[in-house]
Amino acid sequence: MELPFAESWRIKMVEPIKKSTREEREQWMKEANYNLFQLRSEQVYIDCLTDSGTGAMSDRQWAAVMMGDESYAGSSSFFHLKETINKITGFEYVIPTHQGRAAENVLFSHLVKAGSIVPGNSHFDTTKGHIESRKATALDCTIDEAKDTQLEIPFKGNVDPKKLEKALAEHHENVPFIIVTITNNTAGGQPVSMQNLREVRAIADKYGKRVVLDSARFAENAYFIKTREEGYADKTIKEIALEMFSLADGMTMSAKKDGIVNMGGFIATRHEDWYEGAKRFCIPFEGYLTYGGMNGRDMEALAVGLDENTEFDNLETRIHQVEFLAGLLDEYGIPYQRPVGGHAIFVDASKVLTKVPKEEFPAQTLAIELYLEAGVRGCEIGYILADRDPVTRENRFGGLDLLRLCVARRVYTDNHMKVIAAALKNVFDRRDEITRGVEIVWEAELMRHFTVKLNKL
Ligand code: F0G
Repeated sequence: MELPFAESWRIKMVEPIKKSTREEREQWMKEANYNLFQLRSEQVYIDCLTDSGTGAMSDRQWAAVMMGDESYAGSSSFFHLKETINKITGFEYVIPTHQGRAAENVLFSHLVKAGSIVPGNSHFDTTKGHIESRKATALDCTIDEAKDTQLEIPFKGNVDPKKLEKALAEHHENVPFIIVTITNNTAGGQPVSMQNLREVRAIADKYGKRVVLDSARFAENAYFIKTREEGYADKTIKEIALEMFSLADGMTMSAKKDGIVNMGGFIATRHEDWYEGAKRFCIPFEGYLTYGGMNGRDMEALAVGLDENTEFDNLETRIHQVEFLAGLLDEYGIPYQRPVGGHAIFVDASKVLTKVPKEEFPAQTLAIELYLEAGVRGCEIGYILADRDPVTRENRFGGLDLLRLCVARRVYTDNHMKVIAAALKNVFDRRDEITRGVEIVWEAELMRHFTVKLNKL
């Protein structure tokens, strides 16, 4: 008999989690103004809000924590981290930051000016926020296929070379760099192929532009290249990662995802001028250059995390669990962005809650219903998160309206996945009874989803 698949680790420490009653959840949800970010974590049974900073560190990472060198300047932990990043990415210059958006803030302070145009593939919300807050434009050049959630193609996160070429032909004087997000979180954790990275490189070279990889989930992207793209099956994840980065000029990194640490990030680049420029903003915003926004102990844990999570077994275990959850949704007929991506399931709320008008935010409504059903917390990646158009101030209904269910790294078991799927099925089964959504009572101008106050209609 063939042996079944099993995790590439065993568990050394556990953390209790608690169930609640529907009455309790109704009260808590109301108190949180129907915004799942406003819930307390004790009010959540299974937390799928994000895979960011929620992973479980390994015994080697915890051991590394004890080796942290907290020297203000010249910390040996910084050099351990820098050497690991040099080895994995080939980028020589490294600036640690407290998380990914801080890396964006520091690098973009140097590069993005009012009127700049930054083309890319579905910029993440903080990336978009850091561009738009500088009165610049984040120009989405993702392939159109990414919007068809039921279409199965292997690299649905790709940049459309035609759109990118057009953007550069029209705006090249105002383009400081191109940004490619690997994997493409907003489009559903969808990977970008090596071939596509090569095409982006060629267009960038034609116009003399540089390329930044938003690399929060670069290891998962490398896993998909290995398992889906011709010619990569026999390459290691580390070889693939090095090749991906060889096609770029620099990276911003949220280490809270594929670095498997609870906090941290960095900028890395091969260009001294970018390093010199970004340095000027690191010191006032983040901290001195050999710690940026991080503790010595966290830099040690990150060095180990990057090394471990660029090994195939660890990634295979992780992606296998996400695929397991997707398999259950297939069984129940629940539509999600196909094929399933790296870190989450993105349920297509507009295909589930067909009776809720888009002005009443179907994906947010579905997130609320799932929480009320079983205490499972997901997150809207849809019309609320899309913010308003900075010029017209209208809601942006042009993109997808998805409920994201993230799977934390090395945290939950497949039994938890079964609970998530069953809870979602229960909501799905009564989808036609759900006809009203939510309305906005208060919102911030940018990144409104974190603090928005809603009223249930
Ligand atoms: N880029 C991508 C692709 C991301 O997914 C995130 C964060 C960031 C940048 C910013 O990094 O949080 O460390 O400041 N994504 C989280 C999420 C928050 O839930 O997807 P950060």
